[in-house]
Amino acid sequence: MAANVTLSPLGQFLRSPSQWSVDSSPITALVAGLAVVLTSAFFLRLSKSDKVYDLGGIPVLTAWNFFKKRFDFFQAHFKKSNGKMFRFRHRVVAVAGEQGRKAFLNDQSLDMTQGYKILFGGVPRLEDINIQTRTGEPDSRAFVNRLLSLLRKERVADVLPVLLDDVHNRMLDWGTMGRINPFKEVYDLVFQMTVRMATCRELAEDKQAIEELRRHYFNIEQSTTPVAVLLPWFPGQARKTREKATLGLYLLIRKFVTMRRKAKVPSSDPIDVFMENGDSDEVIISTVMGIMFAGVVNTGVTACWALLKLATNPKWKERAIEEYTALVTKHSNTLSTEPLHKRLASIPLNAWEDELPSVDLVIRETLRFTVSGSLLRRNVQKDIVVDGVTIKRGDFMAYPTFEAHMNPDIYSNPESFDPDRYLEGRGEDKKELFAYVAWGAGRHPCAGMKIAKLEIKLVLALVLLGYKYDLVNEAGKYPDILPEPDRNDLVLGMPLGEPCYLKFERVKE
Ligand code: HEM
Repeated sequence: MAANVTLSPLGQFLRSPSQWSVDSSPITALVAGLAVVLTSAFFLRLSKSDKVYDLGGIPVLTAWNFFKKRFDFFQAHFKKSNGKMFRFRHRVVAVAGEQGRKAFLNDQSLDMTQGYKILFGGVPRLEDINIQTRTGEPDSRAFVNRLLSLLRKERVADVLPVLLDDVHNRMLDWGTMGRINPFKEVYDLVFQMTVRMATCRELAEDKQAIEELRRHYFNIEQSTTPVAVLLPWFPGQARKTREKATLGLYLLIRKFVTMRRKAKVPSSDPIDVFMENGDSDEVIISTVMGIMFAGVVNTGVTACWALLKLATNPKWKERAIEEYTALVTKHSNTLSTEPLHKRLASIPLNAWEDELPSVDLVIRETLRFTVSGSLLRRNVQKDIVVDGVTIKRGDFMAYPTFEAHMNPDIYSNPESFDPDRYLEGRGEDKKELFAYVAWGAGRHPCAGMKIAKLEIKLVLALVLLGYKYDLVNEAGKYPDILPEPDRNDLVLGMPLGEPCYLKFERVKE
Protein backbone atom coordinates (compact mmCIF):
# COMPACT_ATOMS: atom_id res chain seq x y z
CA MET A 1 0.00 0.00 0.00
CA ALA A 2 0.89 3.57 0.44
CA ALA A 3 3.65 5.95 1.54
CA ASN A 4 4.90 7.93 4.33
CA VAL A 5 6.15 11.41 4.87
CA THR A 6 8.60 12.74 7.38
CA LEU A 7 6.85 14.48 10.24
CA SER A 8 9.64 15.87 12.33
CA PRO A 9 9.58 19.61 11.87
CA LEU A 10 11.40 20.47 15.05
CA GLY A 11 13.84 17.67 15.50
CA GLN A 12 16.80 19.80 14.51
CA PHE A 13 16.77 21.60 17.82
CA LEU A 14 17.03 18.49 19.83
CA ARG A 15 19.82 17.95 22.21
CA SER A 16 20.93 14.49 23.20
CA PRO A 17 19.69 11.74 20.90
CA SER A 18 18.75 9.01 23.33
CA GLN A 19 17.29 10.23 26.58
CA TRP A 20 14.72 8.07 28.19
CA SER A 21 14.76 10.07 31.37
CA VAL A 22 12.94 13.39 31.39
CA ASP A 23 15.56 15.33 33.34
CA SER A 24 18.79 13.61 32.49
CA SER A 25 22.12 15.22 31.66
CA PRO A 26 23.94 14.04 28.51
CA ILE A 27 26.09 11.64 30.56
CA THR A 28 23.25 10.11 32.50
CA ALA A 29 21.34 9.93 29.22
CA LEU A 30 24.14 7.97 27.62
CA VAL A 31 24.32 5.63 30.57
CA ALA A 32 20.54 5.32 30.57
CA GLY A 33 20.54 4.67 26.83
CA LEU A 34 23.15 1.95 27.18
CA ALA A 35 21.33 0.49 30.13
CA VAL A 36 18.08 0.34 28.17
CA VAL A 37 19.76 -1.51 25.35
CA LEU A 38 21.87 -3.86 27.45
CA THR A 39 19.31 -4.77 30.05
CA SER A 40 16.19 -4.74 27.96
CA ALA A 41 16.42 -8.47 27.28
CA PHE A 42 16.06 -9.22 31.00
CA PHE A 43 12.82 -7.37 31.59
CA LEU A 44 10.26 -9.22 29.60
CA ARG A 45 7.24 -8.28 31.58
CA LEU A 46 3.77 -7.29 30.65
CA SER A 47 2.41 -4.02 31.91
CA LYS A 48 0.20 -4.51 34.95
CA SER A 49 -0.42 -0.85 35.58
CA ASP A 50 -3.43 -0.71 33.27
CA LYS A 51 -5.37 -2.76 30.77
CA VAL A 52 -3.44 -1.79 27.70
CA TYR A 53 -2.28 -4.53 25.36
CA ASP A 54 1.51 -4.82 25.79
CA LEU A 55 3.70 -6.26 23.06
CA GLY A 56 6.19 -7.57 25.59
CA GLY A 57 9.19 -9.33 24.07
CA ILE A 58 12.70 -7.96 23.95
CA PRO A 59 12.09 -4.23 23.76
CA VAL A 60 14.85 -3.43 21.29
CA LEU A 61 13.79 -6.25 19.00
CA THR A 62 10.09 -5.51 19.33
CA ALA A 63 10.76 -1.90 18.46
CA TRP A 64 13.03 -2.73 15.52
CA ASN A 65 10.24 -2.65 12.95
CA PHE A 66 8.93 0.56 14.44
CA PHE A 67 12.10 2.09 13.00
CA LYS A 68 12.51 -0.15 9.99
CA LYS A 69 8.95 -0.65 8.69
CA ARG A 70 6.81 1.65 10.73
CA PHE A 71 3.60 1.28 8.80
CA ASP A 72 3.74 -2.54 8.85
CA PHE A 73 4.61 -2.44 12.54
CA PHE A 74 1.50 -0.48 13.48
CA GLN A 75 -0.77 -2.33 11.12
CA ALA A 76 0.29 -5.75 12.41
CA HIS A 77 -0.02 -4.80 16.07
CA PHE A 78 -3.31 -2.97 15.74
CA LYS A 79 -4.62 -6.18 14.23
CA LYS A 80 -3.53 -8.06 17.34
CA SER A 81 -4.94 -5.45 19.69
CA ASN A 82 -8.24 -5.26 17.79
CA GLY A 83 -7.60 -1.66 16.84
CA LYS A 84 -7.07 -0.64 20.49
CA MET A 85 -4.14 1.32 21.92
CA PHE A 86 -1.11 -0.81 22.68
CA ARG A 87 2.19 -0.36 24.48
CA PHE A 88 5.65 -1.36 23.30
CA ARG A 89 9.14 -1.00 24.64
CA HIS A 90 7.24 -0.56 27.92
CA ARG A 91 7.22 3.20 27.52
CA VAL A 92 5.67 3.93 24.14
CA VAL A 93 1.92 3.88 23.67
CA ALA A 94 0.49 3.56 20.19
CA VAL A 95 -2.61 5.73 20.08
CA ALA A 96 -5.92 4.81 18.47
CA GLY A 97 -9.53 6.00 18.49
CA GLU A 98 -11.19 9.39 18.86
CA GLN A 99 -10.38 9.79 22.56
CA GLY A 100 -6.77 8.82 21.96
CA ARG A 101 -6.41 11.31 19.09
CA LYS A 102 -8.05 14.07 21.09
CA ALA A 103 -5.67 13.66 24.02
CA PHE A 104 -2.66 13.19 21.76
CA LEU A 105 -3.25 16.41 19.88
CA ASN A 106 -4.58 18.59 22.69
CA ASP A 107 -3.11 17.53 26.03
CA GLN A 108 -0.77 20.16 27.49
CA SER A 109 1.40 17.49 29.13
CA LEU A 110 2.49 16.12 25.78
CA ASP A 111 5.55 17.62 24.18
CA MET A 112 6.11 17.36 20.47
CA THR A 113 9.80 18.24 20.32
CA GLN A 114 10.72 15.66 22.94
CA GLY A 115 8.68 13.00 21.14
CA TYR A 116 10.55 13.41 17.87
CA LYS A 117 13.84 13.72 19.72
CA ILE A 118 13.95 10.10 20.81
CA LEU A 119 11.67 8.30 18.41
CA PHE A 120 12.55 9.89 15.13
CA GLY A 121 16.16 10.99 14.88
CA GLY A 122 15.83 11.95 11.22
CA VAL A 123 16.99 15.54 11.27
CA PRO A 124 20.51 16.86 11.66
CA ARG A 125 21.71 18.96 14.56
CA LEU A 126 24.73 21.19 14.59
CA GLU A 127 25.73 19.52 17.86
CA ASP A 128 26.32 16.28 15.94
CA ILE A 129 29.28 17.97 14.30
CA ASN A 130 30.46 19.73 17.45
CA ILE A 131 29.20 23.17 16.49
CA GLN A 132 28.50 25.02 19.68
CA THR A 133 24.98 26.38 19.56
CA ARG A 134 24.28 26.90 23.23
CA THR A 135 24.47 30.66 23.00
CA GLY A 136 22.05 31.04 20.20
CA GLU A 137 20.25 27.88 19.19
CA PRO A 138 16.61 28.72 18.65
CA ASP A 139 14.02 26.85 20.65
CA SER A 140 11.09 25.32 18.81
CA ARG A 141 8.70 28.24 19.38
CA ALA A 142 11.32 30.73 18.22
CA PHE A 143 11.86 28.58 15.14
CA VAL A 144 8.16 28.60 14.29
CA ASN A 145 8.07 32.40 14.77
CA ARG A 146 11.06 32.86 12.46
CA LEU A 147 9.39 30.67 9.88
CA LEU A 148 6.12 32.58 10.17
CA SER A 149 7.96 35.88 9.71
CA LEU A 150 9.20 34.58 6.34
CA LEU A 151 5.75 33.39 5.37
CA ARG A 152 3.94 36.70 5.87
CA LYS A 153 1.44 37.31 3.09
CA GLU A 154 3.23 40.31 1.53
CA ARG A 155 6.51 38.42 1.39
CA VAL A 156 4.94 35.35 -0.22
CA ALA A 157 3.06 37.56 -2.73
CA ASP A 158 6.36 39.25 -3.66
CA VAL A 159 8.26 35.99 -4.10
CA LEU A 160 5.49 34.19 -6.03
CA PRO A 161 6.63 35.33 -9.53
CA VAL A 162 10.21 34.38 -8.65
CA LEU A 163 9.10 30.89 -7.59
CA LEU A 164 7.32 30.51 -10.93
CA ASP A 165 10.48 31.62 -12.78
CA ASP A 166 12.52 29.13 -10.76
CA VAL A 167 10.23 26.20 -11.48
CA HIS A 168 9.90 27.17 -15.14
CA ASN A 169 13.69 27.36 -15.56
CA ARG A 170 14.21 23.97 -13.97
CA MET A 171 11.49 22.44 -16.14
CA LEU A 172 13.25 23.72 -19.28
CA ASP A 173 15.92 21.09 -18.51
CA TRP A 174 13.29 18.40 -19.13
CA GLY A 175 13.22 19.31 -22.85
CA THR A 176 10.07 19.39 -24.98
CA MET A 177 9.33 15.71 -24.97
CA GLY A 178 10.42 12.66 -23.01
CA ARG A 179 10.06 10.85 -19.74
CA ILE A 180 10.87 11.98 -16.21
CA ASN A 181 11.17 10.20 -12.92
CA PRO A 182 8.86 12.42 -10.84
CA PHE A 183 10.50 11.23 -7.62
CA LYS A 184 13.66 13.03 -8.73
CA GLU A 185 12.48 15.86 -10.95
CA VAL A 186 9.42 17.01 -8.99
CA TYR A 187 11.36 16.86 -5.71
CA ASP A 188 13.99 19.04 -7.33
CA LEU A 189 11.36 21.66 -8.15
CA VAL A 190 10.25 21.74 -4.52
CA PHE A 191 13.84 21.79 -3.31
CA GLN A 192 14.53 24.81 -5.51
CA MET A 193 11.48 26.67 -4.14
CA THR A 194 12.43 25.85 -0.55
CA VAL A 195 15.95 27.21 -1.06
CA ARG A 196 14.44 30.38 -2.55
CA MET A 197 11.99 30.75 0.37
CA ALA A 198 14.58 30.10 3.08
CA THR A 199 17.97 31.47 2.00
CA CYS A 200 19.13 34.16 -0.43
CA ARG A 201 19.21 34.95 -4.14
CA GLU A 202 22.89 34.04 -4.51
CA LEU A 203 22.27 30.48 -3.31
CA ALA A 204 18.90 30.06 -5.03
CA GLU A 205 20.53 30.95 -8.37
CA ASP A 206 23.67 28.83 -7.98
CA LYS A 207 22.76 25.49 -9.58
CA GLN A 208 25.94 23.77 -8.47
CA ALA A 209 25.50 24.81 -4.84
CA ILE A 210 21.88 23.65 -4.89
CA GLU A 211 22.95 20.29 -6.28
CA GLU A 212 25.50 19.93 -3.47
CA LEU A 213 22.91 20.98 -0.90
CA ARG A 214 20.46 18.45 -2.31
CA ARG A 215 23.05 15.67 -2.11
CA HIS A 216 23.81 16.38 1.53
CA TYR A 217 20.12 16.70 2.32
CA PHE A 218 19.14 13.31 0.92
CA ASN A 219 22.22 11.65 2.45
CA ILE A 220 20.97 12.81 5.82
CA GLU A 221 17.39 11.76 5.13
CA GLN A 222 18.57 8.31 4.11
CA SER A 223 20.91 7.81 7.03
CA THR A 224 17.99 7.31 9.41
CA THR A 225 18.37 3.60 10.07
CA PRO A 226 17.11 1.65 13.11
CA VAL A 227 20.71 1.37 14.34
CA ALA A 228 21.22 5.13 14.03
CA VAL A 229 18.07 5.85 16.03
CA LEU A 230 18.16 3.05 18.59
CA LEU A 231 21.92 3.15 19.17
CA PRO A 232 22.86 6.74 18.32
CA TRP A 233 26.27 6.40 19.96
CA PHE A 234 27.24 3.45 17.73
CA PRO A 235 29.90 4.60 15.24
CA GLY A 236 28.39 2.83 12.22
CA GLN A 237 28.26 3.87 8.58
CA ALA A 238 24.90 5.63 8.91
CA ARG A 239 26.25 7.86 11.65
CA LYS A 240 29.35 8.70 9.62
CA THR A 241 27.31 9.51 6.53
CA ARG A 242 25.01 11.66 8.56
CA GLU A 243 27.80 13.60 10.25
CA LYS A 244 29.62 14.16 6.98
CA ALA A 245 26.45 15.37 5.26
CA THR A 246 25.48 17.60 8.19
CA LEU A 247 28.92 19.20 8.09
CA GLY A 248 28.63 19.64 4.32
CA LEU A 249 25.23 21.28 4.70
CA TYR A 250 26.49 23.52 7.48
CA LEU A 251 29.59 24.68 5.59
CA LEU A 252 27.66 25.36 2.43
CA ILE A 253 24.95 27.43 4.09
CA ARG A 254 27.59 29.22 6.18
CA LYS A 255 29.40 30.27 3.00
CA PHE A 256 26.29 32.11 1.85
CA VAL A 257 25.56 33.58 5.28
CA THR A 258 29.13 34.97 5.32
CA MET A 259 28.65 36.31 1.81
CA ARG A 260 25.47 38.12 2.87
CA ARG A 261 27.14 39.50 6.01
CA LYS A 262 29.85 41.05 3.83
CA ALA A 263 27.40 42.41 1.24
CA LYS A 264 27.41 46.20 0.95
CA VAL A 265 23.75 46.46 0.00
CA PRO A 266 21.22 44.70 2.21
CA SER A 267 18.43 42.68 0.58
CA SER A 268 15.01 41.49 1.69
CA ASP A 269 16.00 37.83 1.30
CA PRO A 270 15.47 35.49 4.30
CA ILE A 271 19.13 35.34 5.40
CA ASP A 272 19.22 39.16 5.51
CA VAL A 273 15.93 39.23 7.42
CA PHE A 274 17.44 36.93 10.07
CA MET A 275 20.62 39.03 10.20
CA GLU A 276 18.60 42.18 10.72
CA ASN A 277 16.88 40.45 13.65
CA GLY A 278 20.33 40.03 15.19
CA ASP A 279 20.50 36.25 14.76
CA SER A 280 23.88 34.53 14.96
CA ASP A 281 25.26 32.50 12.05
CA GLU A 282 24.44 29.27 13.91
CA VAL A 283 20.84 30.31 14.51
CA ILE A 284 20.45 31.29 10.87
CA ILE A 285 22.00 28.05 9.65
CA SER A 286 19.93 25.82 11.92
CA THR A 287 16.78 27.74 10.97
CA VAL A 288 17.48 27.21 7.27
CA MET A 289 18.18 23.53 7.91
CA GLY A 290 14.99 23.28 9.98
CA ILE A 291 12.89 24.75 7.19
CA MET A 292 14.42 22.39 4.66
CA PHE A 293 13.75 19.33 6.79
CA ALA A 294 10.23 20.44 7.70
CA GLY A 295 9.22 21.21 4.16
CA VAL A 296 11.01 19.55 1.27
CA VAL A 297 10.10 15.90 1.55
CA ASN A 298 6.48 16.36 2.61
CA THR A 299 5.76 18.90 -0.09
CA GLY A 300 7.72 16.98 -2.75
CA VAL A 301 5.96 13.69 -1.97
CA THR A 302 2.56 15.36 -2.16
CA ALA A 303 3.24 17.22 -5.42
CA CYS A 304 4.54 14.01 -6.93
CA TRP A 305 1.62 11.84 -5.86
CA ALA A 306 -0.93 14.48 -6.83
CA LEU A 307 0.44 14.28 -10.40
CA LEU A 308 0.32 10.47 -10.32
CA LYS A 309 -3.19 10.37 -8.88
CA LEU A 310 -4.38 12.83 -11.55
CA ALA A 311 -2.76 10.67 -14.23
CA THR A 312 -4.79 7.69 -13.05
CA ASN A 313 -8.02 9.64 -12.48
CA PRO A 314 -8.80 11.41 -15.78
CA LYS A 315 -12.00 13.00 -14.49
CA TRP A 316 -10.08 14.86 -11.80
CA LYS A 317 -7.26 15.74 -14.16
CA GLU A 318 -9.79 17.34 -16.49
CA ARG A 319 -11.44 19.21 -13.63
CA ALA A 320 -8.10 20.54 -12.42
CA ILE A 321 -7.10 21.68 -15.92
CA GLU A 322 -10.44 23.46 -16.37
CA GLU A 323 -10.07 25.20 -13.04
CA TYR A 324 -6.52 26.38 -13.77
CA THR A 325 -7.55 27.54 -17.25
CA ALA A 326 -10.41 29.58 -15.77
CA LEU A 327 -8.01 31.10 -13.23
CA VAL A 328 -5.51 32.19 -15.88
CA THR A 329 -8.28 33.55 -18.09
CA LYS A 330 -9.75 35.53 -15.24
CA HIS A 331 -6.54 37.05 -13.94
CA SER A 332 -4.34 37.55 -16.97
CA ASN A 333 -4.65 39.16 -20.37
CA THR A 334 -6.19 36.56 -22.70
CA LEU A 335 -4.53 38.21 -25.71
CA SER A 336 -1.12 38.09 -24.06
CA THR A 337 1.69 36.33 -25.90
CA GLU A 338 3.69 35.99 -22.70
CA PRO A 339 4.87 32.50 -21.71
CA LEU A 340 2.72 30.49 -19.32
CA HIS A 341 4.78 31.11 -16.18
CA LYS A 342 4.60 34.88 -16.72
CA ARG A 343 0.84 34.75 -17.12
CA LEU A 344 0.56 32.64 -13.98
CA ALA A 345 2.63 35.28 -12.19
CA SER A 346 -0.15 37.84 -12.64
CA ILE A 347 -2.60 35.73 -10.62
CA PRO A 348 -2.83 37.23 -7.11
CA LEU A 349 -1.93 35.13 -4.07
CA ASN A 350 -5.54 35.20 -2.79
CA ALA A 351 -6.77 33.65 -6.01
CA TRP A 352 -4.23 30.81 -5.75
CA GLU A 353 -5.53 30.18 -2.24
CA ASP A 354 -9.29 30.60 -2.79
CA GLU A 355 -10.16 29.97 -6.42
CA LEU A 356 -8.97 26.40 -6.95
CA PRO A 357 -11.51 24.33 -4.97
CA SER A 358 -11.13 21.11 -6.98
CA VAL A 359 -7.33 21.31 -6.82
CA ASP A 360 -7.64 21.80 -3.06
CA LEU A 361 -9.74 18.63 -2.85
CA VAL A 362 -7.17 16.73 -4.92
CA ILE A 363 -4.36 17.84 -2.60
CA ARG A 364 -6.43 16.95 0.46
CA GLU A 365 -7.20 13.49 -0.84
CA THR A 366 -3.61 12.90 -2.00
CA LEU A 367 -2.37 13.74 1.49
CA ARG A 368 -4.74 11.19 3.04
CA PHE A 369 -2.69 8.56 1.21
CA THR A 370 0.77 10.03 1.53
CA VAL A 371 0.77 11.24 5.14
CA SER A 372 0.94 7.88 6.81
CA GLY A 373 3.89 8.31 9.13
CA SER A 374 3.35 8.63 12.84
CA LEU A 375 3.08 11.76 14.93
CA LEU A 376 5.12 11.60 18.13
CA ARG A 377 4.85 13.03 21.62
CA ARG A 378 6.38 12.65 25.08
CA ASN A 379 4.62 13.20 28.37
CA VAL A 380 6.85 15.73 30.12
CA GLN A 381 4.48 16.67 32.93
CA LYS A 382 2.23 14.68 35.23
CA ASP A 383 0.89 11.16 34.58
CA ILE A 384 -2.24 11.28 32.45
CA VAL A 385 -4.95 8.76 31.67
CA VAL A 386 -6.04 8.46 28.06
CA ASP A 387 -9.04 6.29 27.32
CA GLY A 388 -8.28 4.18 30.40
CA VAL A 389 -4.55 3.88 29.66
CA THR A 390 -2.03 5.50 31.99
CA ILE A 391 0.68 7.50 30.27
CA LYS A 392 3.36 8.08 32.89
CA ARG A 393 5.54 11.13 33.01
CA GLY A 394 8.46 10.39 30.71
CA ASP A 395 6.50 7.96 28.51
CA PHE A 396 5.98 8.42 24.78
CA MET A 397 3.00 8.35 22.48
CA ALA A 398 2.93 7.61 18.77
CA TYR A 399 -0.05 8.23 16.56
CA PRO A 400 0.03 6.49 13.15
CA THR A 401 -2.08 8.69 10.90
CA PHE A 402 -3.41 5.79 8.85
CA GLU A 403 -5.46 4.85 11.93
CA ALA A 404 -7.82 7.66 10.90
CA HIS A 405 -6.94 8.16 7.23
CA MET A 406 -7.49 4.54 6.18
CA ASN A 407 -10.25 3.77 8.65
CA PRO A 408 -13.32 2.37 6.83
CA ASP A 409 -15.60 3.58 9.65
CA ILE A 410 -14.52 7.13 8.77
CA TYR A 411 -13.69 7.03 5.06
CA SER A 412 -15.89 4.93 2.81
CA ASN A 413 -13.80 2.68 0.61
CA PRO A 414 -10.63 4.27 2.02
CA GLU A 415 -8.30 2.84 -0.65
CA SER A 416 -10.10 4.66 -3.44
CA PHE A 417 -9.11 8.13 -4.61
CA ASP A 418 -12.30 10.12 -4.10
CA PRO A 419 -11.74 13.86 -3.51
CA ASP A 420 -15.51 14.49 -3.38
CA ARG A 421 -15.65 12.71 -0.04
CA TYR A 422 -14.85 16.02 1.72
CA LEU A 423 -17.72 17.98 0.17
CA GLU A 424 -20.69 19.17 2.17
CA GLY A 425 -23.28 16.46 2.42
CA ARG A 426 -20.63 13.74 2.62
CA GLY A 427 -18.06 15.43 4.89
CA GLU A 428 -16.38 12.13 5.74
CA ASP A 429 -13.47 13.91 7.43
CA LYS A 430 -15.95 15.41 9.93
CA LYS A 431 -17.34 12.07 11.07
CA GLU A 432 -15.05 11.97 14.08
CA LEU A 433 -12.92 14.48 15.90
CA PHE A 434 -9.47 14.84 14.30
CA ALA A 435 -10.34 12.34 11.58
CA TYR A 436 -8.09 14.23 9.19
CA VAL A 437 -4.62 15.02 10.50
CA ALA A 438 -2.48 15.41 7.38
CA TRP A 439 -1.67 18.98 8.41
CA GLY A 440 -1.55 18.20 12.10
CA ALA A 441 -4.21 19.64 14.42
CA GLY A 442 -4.80 20.79 17.99
CA ARG A 443 -1.72 22.34 19.58
CA HIS A 444 0.61 21.90 16.61
CA PRO A 445 -1.04 22.53 13.28
CA CYS A 446 1.44 22.70 10.40
CA ALA A 447 3.05 26.14 10.31
CA GLY A 448 4.01 25.72 6.66
CA MET A 449 0.66 24.54 5.29
CA LYS A 450 -0.07 27.62 3.18
CA ILE A 451 3.33 27.75 1.51
CA ALA A 452 3.31 23.98 0.97
CA LYS A 453 -0.11 24.16 -0.70
CA LEU A 454 0.99 27.10 -2.83
CA GLU A 455 4.14 25.29 -3.98
CA ILE A 456 2.15 22.18 -4.91
CA LYS A 457 -0.36 24.31 -6.83
CA LEU A 458 2.40 26.09 -8.75
CA VAL A 459 3.95 22.77 -9.82
CA LEU A 460 0.56 21.36 -10.83
CA ALA A 461 -0.30 24.53 -12.80
CA LEU A 462 2.92 24.47 -14.79
CA VAL A 463 2.65 20.75 -15.52
CA LEU A 464 -1.08 20.55 -16.24
CA LEU A 465 -1.22 23.64 -18.46
CA GLY A 466 2.24 23.38 -20.00
CA TYR A 467 2.38 19.67 -20.87
CA LYS A 468 0.39 16.66 -21.94
CA TYR A 469 1.47 13.84 -19.68
CA ASP A 470 0.73 10.20 -18.95
CA LEU A 471 1.83 7.66 -16.44
CA VAL A 472 4.11 4.95 -17.84
CA ASN A 473 6.14 2.03 -16.53
CA GLU A 474 9.71 1.03 -17.34
CA ALA A 475 8.55 -0.34 -20.71
CA GLY A 476 6.89 2.98 -21.58
CA LYS A 477 3.35 1.55 -21.19
CA TYR A 478 0.46 2.53 -18.93
CA PRO A 479 0.99 0.19 -15.94
CA ASP A 480 -1.35 -2.76 -15.33
CA ILE A 481 -1.07 -2.20 -11.59
CA LEU A 482 -1.50 1.43 -10.63
CA PRO A 483 1.17 2.77 -8.31
CA GLU A 484 0.56 3.15 -4.60
CA PRO A 485 3.01 4.75 -2.21
CA ASP A 486 5.13 2.52 0.00
CA ARG A 487 3.97 3.61 3.43
CA ASN A 488 7.08 2.21 5.02
CA ASP A 489 9.27 4.51 2.96
CA LEU A 490 9.81 7.30 5.47
CA VAL A 491 11.95 9.37 3.15
CA LEU A 492 10.83 9.49 -0.44
CA GLY A 493 7.34 8.03 -0.48
CA MET A 494 8.32 5.97 -3.52
CA PRO A 495 5.82 3.65 -5.18
CA LEU A 496 5.60 0.01 -4.24
CA GLY A 497 6.55 -2.41 -6.96
CA GLU A 498 7.83 -1.33 -10.34
CA PRO A 499 9.08 2.23 -10.87
CA CYS A 500 6.81 4.68 -12.66
CA TYR A 501 7.47 7.70 -14.84
CA LEU A 502 5.68 10.58 -16.44
CA LYS A 503 5.82 10.63 -20.23
CA PHE A 504 5.32 14.20 -21.37
CA GLU A 505 5.10 16.52 -24.31
CA ARG A 506 5.33 20.25 -23.96
CA VAL A 507 2.23 21.96 -25.36
CA LYS A 508 2.61 25.54 -24.22
CA GLU A 509 5.59 27.85 -23.83
C1 HEM B 1 2.66 18.76 2.19
C2 HEM B 1 3.52 19.31 3.03
C3 HEM B 1 3.43 19.23 4.53
C4 HEM B 1 2.75 18.36 5.32
C5 HEM B 1 1.88 17.19 4.90
C6 HEM B 1 3.00 18.75 6.70
C7 HEM B 1 2.46 18.10 7.79
C8 HEM B 1 2.64 18.51 9.10
C9 HEM B 1 2.08 17.85 10.25
C10 HEM B 1 1.21 16.59 10.20
C11 HEM B 1 2.47 18.53 11.34
C12 HEM B 1 2.10 18.18 12.80
C13 HEM B 1 3.12 17.21 13.38
C14 HEM B 1 2.71 16.69 14.74
O1 HEM B 1 1.65 17.03 15.25
O2 HEM B 1 3.48 15.90 15.28
C15 HEM B 1 3.28 19.62 10.91
C16 HEM B 1 3.84 20.55 11.75
C17 HEM B 1 4.73 21.52 11.32
N1 HEM B 1 5.06 21.82 10.01
FE1 HEM B 1 4.35 20.90 8.35
N2 HEM B 1 3.82 19.84 6.71
C18 HEM B 1 4.10 20.17 5.41
C19 HEM B 1 4.89 21.20 4.97
C20 HEM B 1 5.56 22.07 5.79
C21 HEM B 1 6.43 23.13 5.34
C22 HEM B 1 6.70 23.48 3.87
C23 HEM B 1 6.93 23.73 6.45
C24 HEM B 1 7.88 24.89 6.55
C25 HEM B 1 8.24 25.67 5.58
C26 HEM B 1 6.35 23.07 7.61
C27 HEM B 1 6.59 23.42 8.92
C28 HEM B 1 5.98 22.83 10.02
C29 HEM B 1 6.26 23.23 11.39
C30 HEM B 1 7.23 24.31 11.84
C31 HEM B 1 5.44 22.42 12.22
C32 HEM B 1 5.38 22.44 13.76
C33 HEM B 1 4.37 23.44 14.23
C34 HEM B 1 4.37 23.56 15.76
O3 HEM B 1 5.32 23.25 16.41
O4 HEM B 1 3.36 24.01 16.33
N3 HEM B 1 5.52 22.07 7.16
N4 HEM B 1 3.37 19.60 9.54
